[in-house]
Amino acid sequence: MDKYAVIGSPISHSLSPKIHAAFAQQTGQELEYTAIEIKPEEFFDRLNELQNAGYRGLNVTLPLKGLAWEAADTCSADCNRAQAVNVLALNSDGSRHGFNTDGSGLLRDLTVTNGIRLEGRRILIVGAGGAVRGILAPLLRSGPLRITVANRTADKALELAESFSDLGEIEGCGLDGIAPKHSAQLYDLVINGTAAGIDNSLPALPDDILAPGAVTYDLMYARQPTAFVKWGRDHGARLALDGLGMLVEQAAESFYIWRTVKPDPRPVLAMLRA
Ligand code: ATR
Repeated sequence: MDKYAVIGSPISHSLSPKIHAAFAQQTGQELEYTAIEIKPEEFFDRLNELQNAGYRGLNVTLPLKGLAWEAADTCSADCNRAQAVNVLALNSDGSRHGFNTDGSGLLRDLTVTNGIRLEGRRILIVGAGGAVRGILAPLLRSGPLRITVANRTADKALELAESFSDLGEIEGCGLDGIAPKHSAQLYDLVINGTAAGIDNSLPALPDDILAPGAVTYDLMYARQPTAFVKWGRDHGARLALDGLGMLVEQAAESFYIWRTVKPDPRPVLAMLRA
């Protein structure tokens, strides 16, 4: 039976094994999928071991996405720009192909599952780490009016904005640059891509930044509403979403990459929400 896994650290709470088991059942595919704890310092050795042991694909999560990009023999232009890979396809001849399905997973969750239009919208993204690098290209291609990337360390946001500026209107700033100067600059969509949620804290955000009907989206998810989901609800967001939908969508795309069969993410998302 072909073997697959999600790798990262920590990994014990990952929902990916459950998601892929549901996809396998839904599509009648026989495969094994587990969660394997791998720390950055052991990444390359463990990757070789897994590939030699017959693993055919890996989902890669924190903090290994940059290393997975380094380990891939080939990958898409978007992976190279993001310098992050979240899906590896492993071949028996030892070659490895990298993909990044985070951005397309987010886009599908926003536009298909939740019916949100991105064309002409003002988008604020808070954070400038790997999670944000992975979603910027697909978001810029969806035609927003402007994307503002704001980060605690302003320089990182400025650099990031500069490196994606050929794809659309994008600017970088510190958290003190978020506040709109007038109402026409309020944000239609605010995405939290910081790691602050790991200890259930929030980046310091001004109160009045959401346009009427705005949506907030936390790239993270948790069993309970995250601190940022609560922030969205408390500040009048029409929808305050967490990253579970994105997780299931990116998983469906990785399943397709490995098995060339596309599972339906909707019943799996409904099962997890229930
Ligand atoms: P990842 O790959 O998950 O994005 P990362 O590269 O370590 O992880 O980036 C984490 C992001 O969360 C960064 O943008 C970080 O801000 P800094 O660049 O200033 O470090 C942001 N972050 C982490 N904790 C935060 C907090 N408590 N408030 C605001 N931003 C925070």
